[in-house]
Amino acid sequence: MRDSLPENVAERVVAWQASHGRNHLPWQKTRDPYRVWLSEIMLQQTQVATVLGYYARFLARFPDVAALARADQDEVMGLWSGLGYYTRARNLHRCAQRVVDAYGGEFPRSAQELATLPGIGRSTAGAIAAFCFSERVPILDANVRRVLTRVLGFEEDLAQAKNERALWGAAQSLLPTTDLVDAMPRYTQGLMDLGASVCTPRSPNCQACPLVTCCAAFAAGDPERYPVKTRKLLRRAESWYLLVLRNAAGAVWLQRRPSEGIWAGMHCVPVFADRAALQDCVASLAEANDWAMEELPSFVHALTHRDLHLHPVLVTAGASPQPVLEPGEWFGPEAWQGMGLPAPIRKLLESTRSALW
Ligand code: ADE
Repeated sequence: MRDSLPENVAERVVAWQASHGRNHLPWQKTRDPYRVWLSEIMLQQTQVATVLGYYARFLARFPDVAALARADQDEVMGLWSGLGYYTRARNLHRCAQRVVDAYGGEFPRSAQELATLPGIGRSTAGAIAAFCFSERVPILDANVRRVLTRVLGFEEDLAQAKNERALWGAAQSLLPTTDLVDAMPRYTQGLMDLGASVCTPRSPNCQACPLVTCCAAFAAGDPERYPVKTRKLLRRAESWYLLVLRNAAGAVWLQRRPSEGIWAGMHCVPVFADRAALQDCVASLAEANDWAMEELPSFVHALTHRDLHLHPVLVTAGASPQPVLEPGEWFGPEAWQGMGLPAPIRKLLESTRSALW
């Protein structure tokens, strides 16, 4: 890293944000921590354009933290369905309950305390505290990490905790020092906007950047080299055999997933580790000999660290057997359409429904 910190970073980012940043997003019209928190959680792994509709629907249904805390988990998951990364939705619900139970329905006002709540990491806590309370705290999400490592010429490997800590320290030193009420939200948003629109991972638009004259990576001619992180994510592949069991009335058999792991707590068709296990299970069901069994096209669903190879098998039960495969229940289309199903399972059920029913 360079010896001294670049000058006037905060002033430049603040001025650039006012003229070139995003200033009309719905969650920017408020300092209500409930709304800002909701938007930040939704934006963690999802593009602004996708979040807009979900954000509006969530607020219409749950206008405040108490309404969300009271909600049934299945309804929360249903409204989240399609946004992915469902741990976020479970933590959202738990966080709302904690805010109501432990804080009387008022979000705590410091980043440090916000970071103790479910689903709120250090960077999200910083964003909420800066946006709502103008606290002088940094953020360091993936976009901002890229902007700052480039400006600073920060070459250390961020896979190591001590380097990550050093970058947080540098981020703290670059924060605005005056007019914090206005400057902290603007600076925080400005860094996010720079990372999203100018300081992109590939082919950054350095000529449009307010920090170009003080950017170490630009001066060295190789901004794409940053951030430096050696540890590669190991992607694993896993095969799941899905039993799409429907009855004569057009209902499907759904089970709740375990409370830990992939799609935890959501409803899903029964999952088997291999084809033989699925076939054994079907064969063991009463009357199953007469049931039609059909392999549907396999597809891959990418999770953060894993590729799920999904192999659905459609089994049509002749009569309407009661209960066939514990645990679980029959759900008609009008029931499962409003439930929190994992997106690929919902698509699968929709395609089997329109193609075959
Ligand atoms: N990504 C994370 N937080 C954001 C925000 N406040 N505005 C736009 N994109 C974001």
